[in-house]
Amino acid sequence: MGHVQITPSILNADFANLSAEVARIASADWVHVDVMDNHFVPNLTFGPTMVEALARSTDIPLDAHLMIADVDRHAVTYAEAGCGSVTFHVEAAAAPVRLAREIRAAGARASMALKPATPVEPYEDLLPELDMLLLMTVEPGFGGQKFLDMVLPKIRRTRALMDKHGVQTWLQVDGGVSLETIERCAAAGADVFVAGSAVYSADDPDAMVADLRARAEAARA
Ligand code: DX5
Ligand code: ZN
Repeated sequence: MGHVQITPSILNADFANLSAEVARIASADWVHVDVMDNHFVPNLTFGPTMVEALARSTDIPLDAHLMIADVDRHAVTYAEAGCGSVTFHVEAAAAPVRLAREIRAAGARASMALKPATPVEPYEDLLPELDMLLLMTVEPGFGGQKFLDMVLPKIRRTRALMDKHGVQTWLQVDGGVSLETIERCAAAGADVFVAGSAVYSADDPDAMVADLRARAEAARA
């Protein structure tokens, strides 16, 4: 298991002041950028031009979470836009092995996401191709939803598969992660934690990043 990393989502930040909003989470390991296209999910955020501008505006690396259809055609654009990590949904990908290799070849970490009802077992042999696996703990599309406890057994099974294969793949959770739920995720085997509303509804977002990190580290000890 890798060290604990906190990757705040800017989905619930002020979109008219994104560089200032990112400056409020200086101790974050990554900035989680939710790209939505109104097709794969019923919500629309921004595209590669905005992401490229954001990448230029901060020293914190960007963790792009692509909730878009036809992702085989578009994912590499986000690596070229300066994202350090690019996550595609397996439900949207026609050729996930080829896509992961293309993302790596473009210089980014390759990551694959699973919606809550998508099982991990069919993708066991893909783990060596991936730098990170994202398990959604809400249905993707919106911030501020309730954490789905039903995903916890899948987190545990995924960690066991990673141990079995001896891979260094990070295990990220996204959706409803808060001071109340992060310990369960960490104890189940997650090591990278997205938190959107928990961070940006806090009076001091960076203090919340520190608090989340401390909770996750304590749950693993
Ligand atoms: C949901 C997004 C998440 C979301 C997390 O589709 O992928 O990254 O912004 O927000 P919270 O932490 O509020 O669930
Ligand atoms: Zn996300």
